[in-house]
Amino acid sequence: MSLLLDEIAIATARLAEAGVESPRTDAELIAARLHGVARSELHLVPDSDFDPRFWDDIARRQAREPLQHITGIAYFRYLELAVGPGVFVPRQETEVMTGWAIEQLAAMDVAEPLVADLGTGSGAIALSIAQEVPRAQVHAVEADPLARQWAERNIASVAAASPHTAGRVRLHAGDFGTALAGLEGHFDLVVSNPPYIPVGAWVPPEVGEYDPATALWGGGKDGLDAVRVVEQTARLLLRPGGLLAVEHGAQQGAAVYWVFAEENGWRETRNRTDLAGRDRFVTAVWPGA
Ligand SMILES: C[S@@+](CC[C@H](N)C(=O)[O-])C[C@H]1O[C@@H](n2cnc3c(N)ncnc32)[C@H](O)[C@@H]1O
Repeated sequence: MSLLLDEIAIATARLAEAGVESPRTDAELIAARLHGVARSELHLVPDSDFDPRFWDDIARRQAREPLQHITGIAYFRYLELAVGPGVFVPRQETEVMTGWAIEQLAAMDVAEPLVADLGTGSGAIALSIAQEVPRAQVHAVEADPLARQWAERNIASVAAASPHTAGRVRLHAGDFGTALAGLEGHFDLVVSNPPYIPVGAWVPPEVGEYDPATALWGGGKDGLDAVRVVEQTARLLLRPGGLLAVEHGAQQGAAVYWVFAEENGWRETRNRTDLAGRDRFVTAVWPGA
């Protein structure tokens, strides 16, 4: 066994004891990032190259700092996004909703589908759609200036590799309830992962202490005030027949379904699940006013 693999085994035990959910994966990813190798190549790192800063990073993870803040990277679909203090770390659950949106856009008989991403954070959803739907134009809205800086950075780094992709994402500063005024009735699809956690609900330290508060707490007794703003906004932005996808917490499927119910003018409202089979997002069609 190599020195690095020995150290990873010790680190795994320490992370497990600290309550980290995936201790071995995290220890390996920290080591791989630090040593500039793939996870599958960790055994190839010579003992003489072991970087003692590994233990500084493990201590941060033991203190429940998110893995992505330590490595500086969040993987989202085909993207490697820069993340850190001030921006919400994109989640796997959101990849599923984004995939649904991408499939719908790809199947749409529209030359250049127009998409709104309400509350873009790192730019994860907007950039994925631009990357995977080569003709889509995406308007990404973000109110939080710090989060917006991360989105700008990610758009710039995608632009360096693919100007055509990044050039189809336009970042708007401001509240998603108003920032796209003037574009009403033009959008083919509105997608949003808004804040939706009810105030007072328990969240793990990685979330409560590191994700920005504006990304988490949705407002209202049920945490769904921001979802209601998305509903009001989407009905204005969508063209007749336009599509909506909004993420929510695993326990909120029924409540969010009713926000987009037929009584409110929506059609074909569906609860959809994440990879773990939990209710995770609602989709609906806006038939027009
Ligand atoms: C849960 S995070 C999602 C970020 C990103 N879309 C993702 O899925 O990783 C919600 C984002 O919405 C932003 N936000 C919350 N309320 C907003 C509002 N009223 N207007 C614009 N952005 C808002 C937050 O700052 C945060 O970046």
